[in-house]
Amino acid sequence: MSENTIPSSLPLRNDLIGEEPYGAPQLDVPVCLNVNENPYPPNPDVIDTIVERVREIAPTLNRYPDREHIKLRQAFSDYLAKESGARLDISQLWGANGSNEIMLQLFQAFGGPGRTALSCDPTYSMYPEYARDTFTGWKVVHRNADFTLDVDRTIEAINDIKPSMVLLTSPNNPTGTPLPLEDTERLLAACEQADVAGAVPGVHPILVIDEAYVEFRNSGTPSAVTLINKHENLAVSRTMSKAFAYAGARVGYLAASKGIIDSVRIVRMPYHLSAVTQAVALAAFEHTDEQLSRVAHLREVRDQTAAWLKRQTYKGVPLEVADSESNFLLFGGHFDNRERIFQELLDRGILIRVVGPDGWLRVCMGTDDEMARFREALAEVLRIVEAQ
Ligand SMILES: Cc1ncc(COP(=O)(O)O)c(C=O)c1O
Repeated sequence: MSENTIPSSLPLRNDLIGEEPYGAPQLDVPVCLNVNENPYPPNPDVIDTIVERVREIAPTLNRYPDREHIKLRQAFSDYLAKESGARLDISQLWGANGSNEIMLQLFQAFGGPGRTALSCDPTYSMYPEYARDTFTGWKVVHRNADFTLDVDRTIEAINDIKPSMVLLTSPNNPTGTPLPLEDTERLLAACEQADVAGAVPGVHPILVIDEAYVEFRNSGTPSAVTLINKHENLAVSRTMSKAFAYAGARVGYLAASKGIIDSVRIVRMPYHLSAVTQAVALAAFEHTDEQLSRVAHLREVRDQTAAWLKRQTYKGVPLEVADSESNFLLFGGHFDNRERIFQELLDRGILIRVVGPDGWLRVCMGTDDEMARFREALAEVLRIVEAQ
């Protein structure tokens, strides 16, 4: 796509002038490892169910869909009970077009002029855009050198800034760092005591944990979903895009107290989830095990790739790899020209992502063949740099 050409005669909001639409490059290359997708397509059984379920609802497409998407919320509840051991009522669940839309709805309901959202960087680069779009202030605390959260400084910032939303990602993107449940509990306790700037006393920040990649966590690590029944100011955002291998279906969901869900219901677009989306999502939940069947393998690939990367050198120094419980790895640490490495890989048909702190690159786990091609290409690029 070409750059924006918006005539200055159009009354675009002042704060949007000069802005570009956000998004990773969508390039037609043989190996795409840049947007943290699941590389494995739905299997033929799932595809048959998708087609069947869409055919079933097709005669109803003259009608608006169930705007409360009750069946789908029940499916989220059943899935979370199985996946995280937490049984939530459908009044504690909510779906949207990707967790991107969930997050925007949270900003619409809890952000706004005079309000601030607090996060810990490096983190997912869309969050500041939601803040901008909803006129919400945006503040960050820096993570530790190993990308773990500096919980003490984050709590200090909660007390100083008095945000209305604290937004944390676990496992974090682009670093893969998980947030231990004890830290989530400490942050929740801080939020439950803190004030919100501009709000009456007794109003406290919500803590949003974005668990887009949580199914890739190491086994035995509890999800923040298990804390929802005890904390009315906790919201956990989830998605079917990653482990569930359903990025194209655009389905994300929110698990939270009924109060948070009801707040989001105020700002949602009427009928925001199409009948087709609901049917397609429900079809996948008929095949949960198949959809998730590659997760364990992708975790192994991640660990093997991390070990391999650590054996490679750039200008004589071994590559660093951030500890990841996700389906991607942030690696390098001392690339003094990361754009060049990115471009050399792209020239060899491998698309990864220039993201995160300077000196680092992010690669998402692909199929075994794609990872072999990635390793071969990166080894060659590193050899060329070494020889110069
Ligand atoms: C941390 C994080 N949250 C949310 C999303 C958005 O996912 P979805 O496809 O559900 O909108 C992404 C996508 O890359 C992500 O990295």
